[in-house]
Amino acid sequence: MKFNNILITGGAGFIGSNLIRYIFEKTDFTGRIINLDKLTYAGNPLNIVDIEQKEHGKRYFFEHGDICDYDNDVRIFKQYDVDAIIHLAAESHVDRSIIGPGEFIRTNINGTFALLEACCSVWKDRKDVRFHHVSTDEVFGSLGAVGYFTETTAYDPRSPYSSSKASSDHLVRAYFHTYGLPITLTNCSNNYGPYQFPEKLIPVMIYNMRDRKPLPVYGDGKNIRDWLYVEDHNSAVWTVLQNGKIGESYNIGGENEWENIKLVNTLCEIFAQETGADEAEIKGLITFVKDRPGHDRRYAIDCSKLKKELDWRQSVDFNRGLRKTVRWYLDNIKWAESIRSGEYLKWIEKNYKDR
Ligand SMILES: NC(=O)c1ccc[n+]([C@@H]2O[C@H](COP(=O)([O-])OP(=O)(O)OC[C@H]3O[C@@H](n4cnc5c(N)ncnc54)[C@H](O)[C@@H]3O)[C@@H](O)[C@H]2O)c1
Repeated sequence: MKFNNILITGGAGFIGSNLIRYIFEKTDFTGRIINLDKLTYAGNPLNIVDIEQKEHGKRYFFEHGDICDYDNDVRIFKQYDVDAIIHLAAESHVDRSIIGPGEFIRTNINGTFALLEACCSVWKDRKDVRFHHVSTDEVFGSLGAVGYFTETTAYDPRSPYSSSKASSDHLVRAYFHTYGLPITLTNCSNNYGPYQFPEKLIPVMIYNMRDRKPLPVYGDGKNIRDWLYVEDHNSAVWTVLQNGKIGESYNIGGENEWENIKLVNTLCEIFAQETGADEAEIKGLITFVKDRPGHDRRYAIDCSKLKKELDWRQSVDFNRGLRKTVRWYLDNIKWAESIRSGEYLKWIEKNYKDR
């Protein structure tokens, strides 16, 4: 289905900013994108400054706001004649959800609820519209050594983050079954790539290697995650938005499982090759730290439905993607430093707060 005015929530974050760039640069979309973002600590307009410079006020519009604000959501839907929403805005960091779950409940559950309500009130019974919800494989809980999450795996979330995402998934489906809202939903595994807030595993490791700081690995390092390059996630979301069946969920994954410790060792090798650093010295920085409470052991996703039904494929080989990613973070030290020093917050204050 073709849409004209797509509202993307959380478009200043890691996946959202890459998604907006992907849609403008890699698809045949000719309409407008409206980016609704609260600019929390994780939202950074610097992530999207290139698109802003080219398209602002033409095909790209930034709305600084909170998805929990129902009246503002309704205004945006009406003002831009929004006919599709790709909902990514969320509190997304598991460790933060353990320390302070409240904001996760507010944004991830109440915020999704406010958006669903706004859709129903503006769209009424329209069927030429779409609510696409971006979610995570973490809603399925933890796997043993074998098996995969499929679209029919029972939800079993363990952290406040995954529980809040699971709740939002249920709400989205409830609005389809109860009110007939045309929805699609995707659950994706761990993303990596450029513009990820430097508190997540891969950027933390790269910058700690650079600063010769310890590389913290939880527990015994044998927890397993499936990794997917962010552009492949976004091509899958786009595919589902265009061709997904209303009311359906699709799993998205890299079919690329890695033990954390193996991933960190590989990153050390790539870092050493890219910078000329001594590999043994970099690997010597690896430090095992106390495990995260409720740390899920293994995530592995079966994405055969998406491949079979919508003909989607991953396109970025993991070693190539990791090397590109290491290079990107090393080439964008200024971006990271503006975040780590808090300098970007002043920049947001100056340029965005009264928009
Ligand atoms: N990162 C991953 O590996 C991964 C994997 C699967 C699914 N997801 C899902 O994808 C989505 C995006 O993840 P990400 O890694 O880009 O997150 P992120 O933390 O980098 O970005 C989240 C964005 O949402 C914005 N935001 C937060 N609260 C808001 C609110 N109340 N109103 C408006 N905007 C708000 C932030 O400012 C930020 O720009 C999330 O829903 C996440 O659950 C992420």
